Amino acid sequence: MARRPQRKARTQAPVEVTVGEIGARGDGLADYGGRRVYVPLTVPGDRVRILPGEPRGDGIAARLLDVLEPGPDRAVPPCSHFGICGGCALQHLTDGAYAGWKRAQVVTALSRAKLTGIDVAPTVRTPPASRRRATFAATRRSGRATLGFNERQSHRIADISGCLVVEPGIRALLGPLEDLLTAMLPDGAALDVTVAVLEGGPDVLLTGGPEPGLDARERLAAFAEEQDIARLSWRRSPSSPPEPVAARRPLHVRFGGTAVPVEPGAFLQASGEGEAALVDAVLAGVGGARKVADLFAGLGTFTFPMARTATVHAVEGDASAMATLSAAARTLPNVTTARRDLFEDPLTASELSRFDAVVFDPPRAGAREQSTRIAESGVPVVVAVSCNPATFARDARILTDSGYRLESVTPVDQFVWSAHIELVARFRAAG
Ligand SMILES: C[S@@+](CC[C@H](N)C(=O)[O-])C[C@H]1O[C@@H](n2cnc3c(N)ncnc32)[C@H](O)[C@@H]1O
Repeated sequence: MARRPQRKARTQAPVEVTVGEIGARGDGLADYGGRRVYVPLTVPGDRVRILPGEPRGDGIAARLLDVLEPGPDRAVPPCSHFGICGGCALQHLTDGAYAGWKRAQVVTALSRAKLTGIDVAPTVRTPPASRRRATFAATRRSGRATLGFNERQSHRIADISGCLVVEPGIRALLGPLEDLLTAMLPDGAALDVTVAVLEGGPDVLLTGGPEPGLDARERLAAFAEEQDIARLSWRRSPSSPPEPVAARRPLHVRFGGTAVPVEPGAFLQASGEGEAALVDAVLAGVGGARKVADLFAGLGTFTFPMARTATVHAVEGDASAMATLSAAARTLPNVTTARRDLFEDPLTASELSRFDAVVFDPPRAGAREQSTRIAESGVPVVVAVSCNPATFARDARILTDSGYRLESVTPVDQFVWSAHIELVARFRAAG
C-alpha cells in the first residue's frame, strides 16, 4: 500500500533535472531518481523543470515545463510551429550540435555492433525546403479542415502554413487544399494527403475519408485544374489501388537520364538533393563494377544511373514498382529485372556470385537474411544504403563477421531537422 501513492507522486509532481544527451528519437535524456527520463525539446546541459509521465521503454516520458538554464547548444528554432508540430524534432540545437548529433547516430550504431575504426565520412547535408514528397494528416472539425503534421505525441494536427521543410511547390498547396477539404468533407472526417512534386507538376493522393461521389469528383477535378495539379487520385486505404480523379499530365522522375513514370504514392527518395547524394555515393561505391545486382531497387533510383556503365539486375518486391521499373528499362538491354520477396526468398550465394558488386537498399527493418546470403557469396564489392543505422549495423556485422571489410560509411541527411539519418556504406570482400 505504501508504494503506490509514492509512485504516483514521483510521476506527477514537477521536478528539476539536467539533460545529459539527446537520444535516438531526438528527445533529451536525463536521470531522475536513477531512472531515465525522456524530455522532448531539450539539449545537453539544459537545466529544466519537467513533469514526469507515463513509462516509456526503459524509462519515463516527461513533459518540458520550463528551461531554467539553457545548455550551450540551445538555439532559437527557425520555424514558429516547432515544439507543437511533430514534423521536426531538432530545430532547437545550434547547427554544429545538430550536425554532430546526426553523425553520432551512425558512429554509435556502429560501435554498438562492435564495428570500430571505421572511416565515417562527413555528413552530406541537404538544404531545408527541399522535401519533394510528404504525407500530411487532415481532418475537419467545427466546420473547418486542418491539414498538417500531427502535433507531438498527439493526434491533433498542427498548423504548418509556414513549413520550412517542404518544397515551396508543396507549401503553396497547403492552404488551397485546406479550403478544398473544408468545402468537401463532413465534420469528423479524417484522411491523409500525400503531395509529391515531380517532373510534370504536383501529384496529390488522398488516402481514406469518405469515398468521393460524383459531385466530389467534379470538385476535385476542378481543384486540380485551378491549382495546375498534374494528377489527383483517391484510394480507400494505403493498401487499396489509387483511383485517378484527374490525370492532366504524365508524371515521371528521371534517373540517370531515363524517364520513369511515377504511380501515385510510389516510393521516391525524399528530396532531389538527397537522391543525388545517395546516387553519387552508390556510384562511387560500385566503382568500375561491370555486373551489378540492385536489390530493393524501387523504381530504379540506382539501377538507371548504374546502367550507364554496367549491366544491372534490379530486384524489387513491390509489384507496381517492379512493373514501372521494367517498363522504363525496356529499351535498355543491359538492365534485367525480377520481382521477388527478398525477406522470404533472398538471392542465394550462388546467384549473387555472378556479380562484381551488389547494392542493397532495404526498408527500415534492414535485410538480415539477404545480408547472410551476400556474406556467403564472396561478391567482391557490396554497397549498402540504409535509412536505419541500427539495422544497418546489424547487417554490416553479418558481412564483417564473414570477412568483408567495411571500408567507408557516408551519412546523408535528407530528412532535415528530423531524427532520421541515412547512409551509404561500402564493403570489400577479403583477399
Ligand atoms: C528504401 S526503399 C529503396 C528503393 C530504391 N532503392 C530507391 O532508392 O528509390 C526500399 C524498397 O524495398 C522494397 N521492399 C520492401 N520489402 C521488400 C521485400 N520483402 N522484398 C523486396 N523488396 C522489398 C520496397 O518496395 C522499396 O522499394
